[in-house]
Amino acid sequence: MSEHDVAERLTTALGIRHPIVLGPFGGLSSVELTAAVSELGGLGSYGLYGYDAARIAETATELRAATRRPFALNLWLPLEMDGEGFDTRRPTGGATRPPAKPASFDDAVSALRGFFEELDLPVPTPPERYLPSFDEQWSAVLQAQPAVASFVFGVPPAEVVASARERGILLVGTATSVDEAIALQAGGVDAIVATGLEAAGHRVSFLRPAESALVGSISLIPQVVDAVDVPVIAGGGIADRRGVAAAFALGASAVQVGTAFLRTRQSAANDAHRNAIASTPAHDTVLTRAMSGRLSRGAANRAVRSIEQGGAIAPFPVQNWLTGRFRIEAGRRNLGELQSLWLGQSAPLAVHDEASDVFAELVAGVPA
Ligand SMILES: Cc1cc2nc3c(=O)[nH]c(=O)nc-3n(C[C@H](O)[C@H](O)[C@H](O)COP(=O)(O)O)c2cc1C
Repeated sequence: MSEHDVAERLTTALGIRHPIVLGPFGGLSSVELTAAVSELGGLGSYGLYGYDAARIAETATELRAATRRPFALNLWLPLEMDGEGFDTRRPTGGATRPPAKPASFDDAVSALRGFFEELDLPVPTPPERYLPSFDEQWSAVLQAQPAVASFVFGVPPAEVVASARERGILLVGTATSVDEAIALQAGGVDAIVATGLEAAGHRVSFLRPAESALVGSISLIPQVVDAVDVPVIAGGGIADRRGVAAAFALGASAVQVGTAFLRTRQSAANDAHRNAIASTPAHDTVLTRAMSGRLSRGAANRAVRSIEQGGAIAPFPVQNWLTGRFRIEAGRRNLGELQSLWLGQSAPLAVHDEASDVFAELVAGVPA
């Protein structure tokens, strides 16, 4: 089958007119943007990170009210958790920048104390649970029955694949390396997002520590295309027609775009975040574990610099929950120095404020 046929197979299976996917934004997806991209003939994705069953049901209802077109719901798989639900994966030999030894809850709180004081917030104590269980989330997604369910941080378990098949839900996995793509194909996914290190947000590696899976899109895409038979969706660094054309030239069947859409007024980003996308040069984005305990790309604001210098970073999901206690409030007050400013290396190419303008620009790069 030619690459053009594979691309057509994907758009037909997804029921979309254009091979353009809006990436999910865990914690920052908006119904408006997801529905807008689906209405334009692409695939809008919505990130469900941290959502419980009730919120997933509510979100699916809102999405259905906003669009009758297909959309994707996105979940994080639980990765290498210890008995208490903490991510125990740490870089081993070959890591480029091993993080400091994971800090305890109390040490991490001490390192963050200044931020709670600055915002007049109580110093947190451990919650009953850090995250809803994956099983609870997956049952709610099955009930919602989206056209597509997409995953990061692993291969969906066989029961998940079987239950999705029963309901006609297509499964998309996410790979940061060739071996992860091969594992995802063996696990039964219908398509694979190959995401290069340029991308905004978390580096979603699962077969080795993220620091040891830093491959750029121009190298990763063709290698994944060569290694698997399922359609490949290129993600990371694509923000205009040139990026789309390049991804297709490398054998991709579709593209997944984050940063360029996050800048638009339809996204849930606040003004501080939009301004950061508009003003951060590629070389000023960093990969850091400071905010969540997992490696993620964004602007190096005061919070990131201070936490990195302090060196007391708890493992995921503890660090993510802890920083969330001030980040969410900082986001409400539009304090860019104290919130997460996830954005990718192509931020300077993200120039449009309307989702339809981003979409038209991307469609212009799809080969006829
Ligand atoms: C704020 C933010 C949150 C994200 N959360 C998720 C997520 O929960 N799940 C996921 O699959 N990808 C997530 N991503 C990655 C995007 O969906 C997309 O793949 C990525 O931004 C593409 O790279 P680009 O930013 O260079 O376009 C997130 C990106 C951002 C900016």
